[in-house]
Amino acid sequence: MNAADLGKDLVGLEPLSAAQITAILDTAEPFKEVSERPIKKVPALRGKTIVNLFFEPSTRTRISFEFAEKRLSADTVNVQAAGSSVSKGETLVDTARNLEAMRIDMVVIRHGSSGAAQFLGQRIRSNVINAGDGTHEHPTQGLLDLLTLRDRFGKIAGLKVCIVGDVLHSRVARSNIWGLTKLGAEVAVCGPSTLLPSHVADLGVTVFGRVEEAIQWADALNVLRLQLERMTAGFIPSLREYNRVFGVTSERLSRAPKDLLILHPGPMNRGVEIDSDVADGPHSVILPQVTNGVAVRMAVLYLLAGGSPDWANAGGEA
Ligand code: CP
Repeated sequence: MNAADLGKDLVGLEPLSAAQITAILDTAEPFKEVSERPIKKVPALRGKTIVNLFFEPSTRTRISFEFAEKRLSADTVNVQAAGSSVSKGETLVDTARNLEAMRIDMVVIRHGSSGAAQFLGQRIRSNVINAGDGTHEHPTQGLLDLLTLRDRFGKIAGLKVCIVGDVLHSRVARSNIWGLTKLGAEVAVCGPSTLLPSHVADLGVTVFGRVEEAIQWADALNVLRLQLERMTAGFIPSLREYNRVFGVTSERLSRAPKDLLILHPGPMNRGVEIDSDVADGPHSVILPQVTNGVAVRMAVLYLLAGGSPDWANAGGEA
């Protein structure tokens, strides 16, 4: 199969090959430049209609997808659960089928239930892109993290990346683990045992129980938000205690053998999983991650619509 053929839907990085992931990252490269132009628009998806169906709150992902769609000249509609007929009890599939009756081409979906994107993709003709489903995957976040690491290190293979914090509730962690391991990185997770999935080592990752060990080992830390809204029981004694034991602080980083690249998918709990002087410090790429998110989402939309990965040489700069 052609590496740039992603199939109908993007539900996660687990089903993708290393070649497919690399094709998305390579396709994102020329799209970065589009966002730096005075007129940030190319005609690649002119005539396509895309619905952004967000059933959970989002700042970065929703706005980034909308920018990506508009910069590719697609027509876009945003639907949120509140204010739509979902709030009257309409099912997800009925909502999507009604949208399809208006002749749409793609659906970008964020949903609180793991598996929602795949469920929808199997029931409608339009391409479906997972913008985060429960605790399952957040593939475009994983892809933008990979692109940011590749920008800074020039490669993914051989990098040591540790994902720190609430891995249990994190779809970002799962997409990162799949993407990084497929591209040949060494991956570790670090956090309190209550916030690490049982059998996480079966995913091919090293497990650190102390953040100091992770800092000694890693080239980059991807620091996760404590997902307090998904915690149904007392997973940690207190936020203050979490920061004291697992917080990524400049004092801890000062004892690292090298400067570590710091990533965070956002939104951040400053002073809990990450201190402000680290988040805003010279080794943080948290805002470049957000910038790369637009290019990665342009690449995913473009490839799912059947575009060639050689977009820039195929007249895309005209
Ligand atoms: N990283 C991420 O998914 O952020 P949002 O929840 O703001 O979209």
